[in-house]
Amino acid sequence: MDATQLKKLVAQAAMQYVQPNTILGVGTGSTVDCFIDALAESGIQLTGAVSSSIRSEKKLREIGVTIVDLNDVAGLALYVDGADEIDPAFNLVKGGGGALTREKIVADASAKFVCIADESKLVSTLGAFPLPVEVLPMARELVARKLTKLGGTVKLREGFITDNGNVILDVHGLKITDPKAIEAEINHWPGVVTNGLFALRPADVCLIGGQNGVRTL
Ligand code: A5P
Repeated sequence: MDATQLKKLVAQAAMQYVQPNTILGVGTGSTVDCFIDALAESGIQLTGAVSSSIRSEKKLREIGVTIVDLNDVAGLALYVDGADEIDPAFNLVKGGGGALTREKIVADASAKFVCIADESKLVSTLGAFPLPVEVLPMARELVARKLTKLGGTVKLREGFITDNGNVILDVHGLKITDPKAIEAEINHWPGVVTNGLFALRPADVCLIGGQNGVRTL
């Protein structure tokens, strides 16, 4: 099976967590696109969905799902999203698609976070995938200098503006041995909206697609 088939497989497996007549938290990315397709095929009727990006919002609307404002719900039972890297403690790097801030907000609002990914995303230590940091445009160089001091090589994501009107700095070459500490430290700096580490609120369940099928971790 190739990567797309594995994504479809985990997307399908995630359906077991989706309850009809609920409001679902939906993430962003190519794996989530497969999840939204599987949702359409399942015929499960949702009350609505809170989306983590304009991209997913559009796709959800296309399949007839009502988009709900997070401010109008007290909380969500379930959030389904992909990841760029997953370590053995379910700490994640996310934000390859640039939706990290809204993803972190929806994950935080959800009682259960089910992460869906193919097995290429499993790592022993986070950091081989460049860590995305969403930054207010005026603080771009200030934050880039601080990230360089942390030991990373910083690259501005050229031509990319987030759904929130900010820029993304991708930090290459970090070896993230203490994800909670690094997540908290970077998020503390003025001008940083958030970074792509999901360690303070990691995934609760990971569905991993591999050549032998889907493993639930
Ligand atoms: C989007 O900003 C990301 O956090 C995605 O969840 C992550 O990049 C995984 O994307 P794919 O499913 O496309 O690999």
